Amino acid sequence: MRIAVLKERRAGETRVSATPDTIKKLIALKHTVAVEAGAGITAGIRDEDFTAAGATVGPASSVLSGADIVFKVRAPDTAELATYPKTAGLVALLEPYAAKKEAAAWAAHGLTAVAMEFVPRITRAQSMDVLSSQANLAGYRAVIEGSQLYGRAVPMMMTAAGTVAAAKIFVMGAGVAGLQAIATARRLGGIVSATDVRPAAKEQVASLGAKFIAVEDEEFKTAETTAGYAKPMSPDYQKKQAELVAAHIAKQDMVITTALIPGRPAPVLVTEAMVKSMRPGSVVVDLAVTQGGNCPLSKADEVVDVNGVKVIGFSNLPAHVAADASALYARNLLALLPLLTGENAAFAPKWDDEIVKASVLTRDGQVVHPALKDG
Ligand code: NAI
Repeated sequence: MRIAVLKERRAGETRVSATPDTIKKLIALKHTVAVEAGAGITAGIRDEDFTAAGATVGPASSVLSGADIVFKVRAPDTAELATYPKTAGLVALLEPYAAKKEAAAWAAHGLTAVAMEFVPRITRAQSMDVLSSQANLAGYRAVIEGSQLYGRAVPMMMTAAGTVAAAKIFVMGAGVAGLQAIATARRLGGIVSATDVRPAAKEQVASLGAKFIAVEDEEFKTAETTAGYAKPMSPDYQKKQAELVAAHIAKQDMVITTALIPGRPAPVLVTEAMVKSMRPGSVVVDLAVTQGGNCPLSKADEVVDVNGVKVIGFSNLPAHVAADASALYARNLLALLPLLTGENAAFAPKWDDEIVKASVLTRDGQVVHPALKDG
């Protein structure tokens, strides 16, 4: 099939959906690839690198002409959508939980829209799991950004002029992003602790050398769904956890929040009072800012100063590591493509495949995903 790789148009989006490495592999699979000029530059890839890999490079209009499928990082806006060929496939991060209106427009345009976020977290789909590939980098980057704005050094330093104490770093939510944040904070020399509502997280946190902080009552012991996600916790549990966490946060230099239950607003874990209990120069990094925030004071893409404590709400941390984030994202798309390919490398999704079923939002002019259908 003919694959169109477009430049991202959303402000702050630096990633690109294909790399020379994945383009070579796509061509080996008998596809052709056309890349919009300048699409890779913010991710460190020049047009000539794409050409050397076998892609054609040109303006969006020629890239889209005759395309069977469009590879993107982000969903198109209305103007961009209007330029897409009718009945093409679209594979991107479509933010499906908040895309009812957009999905209707994609369906009306005739697109087969595939939301990479809905690829299920099952073993067979691990190589396609964009949430994990991107969250991993986000967890790493959260610690780097936090350290950058932290008014002190992270590692302990013993010098002739005296000792610098190690920073105390607390990671809330020990999923993909959280575990990578813990590992990064440990590598920088921080004294790291972490919390999560899933009992399985305790061992993972400990294996990374961090201290686990949680109210470990009966509810906690059954707080994981069979799919491996956290269950919403009762108000009583949340109160007990908040008390424990409040006392802990007052002693921390950096708090990194990554707590999420898919499709729901982020739980509030760091209140204004907790932020104010931290000493000036401390930092809170709220990864869940676009889901409403684990800290009510965080603002998307801003650093909010609260009595000298900086609350960081960067909404797109993978874009701060664009080359690596693009490389992993592009490989996730490459891994998914066989499920959208039929004979002679034609665009022909395997509709009965569970991964396709879970991630296709629109087809044949209809919104087909249950999460987006009315009623
Ligand atoms: P994940 O599902 O792997 O991990 C989330 C963790 O939060 C789970 O371990 C879950 O048990 C835990 N959790 C849920 N409720 C909790 C509570 N009340 N207290 C403590 N822990 C709780 O998710 P992942 O992939 O690690 O993503 C984490 C967050 O980071 C999400 O909100 C995601 O949208 C966000 N994210 C933000 C980025 C950015 O640039 N700002 C980039 C990538 C992800």
